[in-house]
Amino acid sequence: MLSDKDRIFKNLYGQHDWGLKGARERGAWDNTKAILEKGQDWIIEEMKASGLRGRGGAGFSTGMKWSFMPKKSDGRPHYLVVNADESEPGTCKDREIIRHDPHLLIEGSLIGAFAMRANVVYIYIRGEFIRERQRLQAAIDQAYEARLIGKNNINGWDCDIYVHHGAGAYICGEETAQLESIEGKKGQPRLKPPFPANAGLWGAPTTVNNVESIAVVPDILRRGAAWFAALGKPNNTGTKLFCISGHVERPCNVEEEMGISFRELVDKHAGGVRGGWDNLLAIIPGGSSVPCVPAHMCNDLGMDFDSLRKVGSGLGTAAVIVMDKSTDIVKAISRLSYFYKHESCGQCTPCREGTGWMWRVMERMVEGRAEHAEIDMLWDVSKQIEGHTICALGDAAAWPVQGLIRHFRHEMEARIDAFHAQHKARVAAE
Ligand code: NAI
Ligand code: SF4
Repeated sequence: MLSDKDRIFKNLYGQHDWGLKGARERGAWDNTKAILEKGQDWIIEEMKASGLRGRGGAGFSTGMKWSFMPKKSDGRPHYLVVNADESEPGTCKDREIIRHDPHLLIEGSLIGAFAMRANVVYIYIRGEFIRERQRLQAAIDQAYEARLIGKNNINGWDCDIYVHHGAGAYICGEETAQLESIEGKKGQPRLKPPFPANAGLWGAPTTVNNVESIAVVPDILRRGAAWFAALGKPNNTGTKLFCISGHVERPCNVEEEMGISFRELVDKHAGGVRGGWDNLLAIIPGGSSVPCVPAHMCNDLGMDFDSLRKVGSGLGTAAVIVMDKSTDIVKAISRLSYFYKHESCGQCTPCREGTGWMWRVMERMVEGRAEHAEIDMLWDVSKQIEGHTICALGDAAAWPVQGLIRHFRHEMEARIDAFHAQHKARVAAE
């Protein structure tokens, strides 16, 4: 279990002052200038050595991503965009950082901007986060007032930070849709490549990083990459915020060491599964976009990118949704299908048509009003969506359905059989 001294988010529950004074007492803004004086190359190498993988869901190396930004100016400005459009179902960690420790994010933004030679940072905040936007803006105002950011600030790198408020579309959390939205256009993903580091905001070099990825930067650089890399497992280093929801005794957000076992995570922090471990049905370990993992595979399950990939799922945003045996899992996955159908931007056919198709079939599967062969058709449609769309929303819609078929096909078949048996009995009685 993570010791208190290794914790980065010391005010996750808001028990202390969120403002500049409180943040300073917890170590934020402590000689930030000295970090910047070590230079861009040192910072990027240190970030690579820390092993930090993006905390927004995809797990791409943060240091590597920063290194893609041009080292020399070709006249175009550079931008850092912080993705605070946290919308993945079950995920509520970035929200807590913004509410209770916004200065970690602001200091990390300045350091990241410096490392990538950007003088402007946009923090794109989810439309529903109204009070969070006010809190973040208040913290930014404090940082300007103390001359920690802005022009001619005491840290020696000009950096303006703007908060851009989204309008409530899930798809604007996709990095290129987010860039379109900041540019004032409809939030629809762009084809990649080119990646944003080559052509991002207004065609200029841009890096998009998640809130948590940026908020851990000051601690990594202050305490050293070796400290961060020593936590967790090889290739899955550091600490991570987990959002534990669903059928546990005490749903919570908690910072833990990467790679902690699912059982330890839930027992130590969430009071265990409601009704005991024998009552566990399945989990969705990383926000709604990853396949579920059934109970029998959860015993020694490590909560990190590679361990979860090995069992056919993923860490995603580390939003752990726990489902006990009272859950109608077919209905739960059908509800997710509705979500993806609703949030599809409609730009590419497999996603626009396929998400609606999957949801309609899933709704029938909930009642069993289907044929066995349709389970295979559902699988085929999900495979035709996966990997054939512009952005990851198509995959995200396909994977939960695939997880259901892989692990709970028997449940779907039983429902179909029960529905047909009832129908037969009704006809015989008439
Ligand atoms: P991705 O794997 O396409 O990209 C990850 C990052 O690495 C991006 O910033 C991308 O530009 C960069 N990258 C990847 N390959 C690159 C290359 N060859 N050259 C340069 N840069 C490269 O994944 P994506 O679409 O950014 O994120 C998908 C994930 O987002 C999902 O796994 C899901 O878990 C998560 N997600 C999180 C949400 C949230 O609320 N935090 C909401 C929805 C999805
Ligand atoms: Fe839009 Fe879906 Fe295509 Fe993504 S996959 S670009 S959300 S239609």
